[in-house]
Amino acid sequence: MKKIALFGTGYVGLTTAACLAEMGYSVVGYDVNEAKIDQLRQGQIPFSEPELAPLVERNISAGRLAFTADCGDALNDAEMVFICVGTPTSPSGAADLSQVEAAVRLIARSATRSLIVVLKSTIPPGGSAEHFAEILTGELLPPLVAHIVVNPEFLREGSAVHDFFFPDRVVVGAWDRPAGEQVAALYSPLHCPVLLTDPATAQLTKYASNAFLAAKISFINEVGRIAEKVGANVYAVAQGMGLDERIGGDFLEAGLGYGGSCFPKDVKALAAIAERHGSPSALLRAVMEVNAGQRRLAAEKLHDALGGLGGKNVCVLGLAFKPDTDDVREAPALDVISMLCDRGATVRTYDPVAASRAQEVLPPHSRLHYCEDAYEAAKGSDAVFIATDWKQFRDLDWNRMGSLMKGKTILDSRGLISPLQMQEMGFRCLALSS
Ligand SMILES: NC(=O)c1ccc[n+]([C@@H]2O[C@H](COP(=O)([O-])OP(=O)(O)OC[C@H]3O[C@@H](n4cnc5c(N)ncnc54)[C@H](O)[C@@H]3O)[C@@H](O)[C@H]2O)c1
Repeated sequence: MKKIALFGTGYVGLTTAACLAEMGYSVVGYDVNEAKIDQLRQGQIPFSEPELAPLVERNISAGRLAFTADCGDALNDAEMVFICVGTPTSPSGAADLSQVEAAVRLIARSATRSLIVVLKSTIPPGGSAEHFAEILTGELLPPLVAHIVVNPEFLREGSAVHDFFFPDRVVVGAWDRPAGEQVAALYSPLHCPVLLTDPATAQLTKYASNAFLAAKISFINEVGRIAEKVGANVYAVAQGMGLDERIGGDFLEAGLGYGGSCFPKDVKALAAIAERHGSPSALLRAVMEVNAGQRRLAAEKLHDALGGLGGKNVCVLGLAFKPDTDDVREAPALDVISMLCDRGATVRTYDPVAASRAQEVLPPHSRLHYCEDAYEAAKGSDAVFIATDWKQFRDLDWNRMGSLMKGKTILDSRGLISPLQMQEMGFRCLALSS
């Protein structure tokens, strides 16, 4: 049974570890966060991700999955080591590669056999993979060798386990073809297209994919603004566009825009790469500007509808950047909440799973209250603002919500509820675009 070590047990690392174990590989997850490793050893998942907990539990019990805070233990006998650590945005907008570099150095100093180092973290093309290869060559004890293989991850939080087992494609970039083929072979039971290429192409494929999806979202939001001016319905426009197979309907939902741990930082990083190489991207700048504008637009709409925000009560439903996750990194809701509080509103908010993570990120505010459920959040509110399209918000008893509210205004920034039905119940429905 091939032994695989995995550095970084966050959303990507833990999902990859559990899924590779489920495929029959022997996997050891290592993380610098010892508290996380303790939790994982007890079978507890440190974040919310559907289907992951039973997978982790089953594979620990079967002896195929283990966790350690000792990197020597993790590397012992491992033929491959996956690096799945974070690559957040640095102050310049470029990707901060310090976690990856630390992991590479740790591997170089602790390895006792030759191995393949698989970079699953999203790292920019244009020198970073080369830099990590140099570190490995410089610090590994001879005669050990390590081949770098870039294997970007495309899974989505909220459906990460499904996405691992049913990928649209796997991209593997390697200078050493046999090393690339060994990594590609891991995925052969998944029967998906595997693109074997050079590292820079694999890295750029990841950035270009995320930037393209983000651009689709900003594009339809821009169309939404035009639709409002000319009396068109952007949701019907999106439907009409999406039925064209060349365009496709995914990521054409007009609304509050993109957030999360990937799109914002990857678009920024790709723009920084373009700039660094003397080819600034006007398109990527526009994608980011339109996206930021949607958050300001939400606060403006509420301001205008309520005749100002000072002294007003707004119920914000949803904190996570999307449903089925507790990830609040770059979540649009958090920005809008800050804008509402700054402009004098009191905010009562509820999210099914993300409140405690939001409290770690949002500075405390005397007018910001976290509630136990949507009905409690709605009490006394002048308006409800739907920021995340959790299915359970659609299924709320909206008559009860209305009876608890002071006003009857709803801004649904995710197109979750039917404006016609809500109007019949006496609500005044706002949207970010018509
Ligand atoms: N989250 C997603 O949906 C997603 C999807 C595709 C790609 N990615 C990419 O995958 C990478 C990981 O993302 P994530 O969301 O899983 O990050 P995360 O922040 O959830 O997890 C990173 C983990 O790495 C650990 N770590 C940091 N330094 C380490 C080191 N030197 N050795 C071992 N562990 C270390 C941290 O303690 C943490 O547990 C990023 O590059 C991201 O862009 C993320």
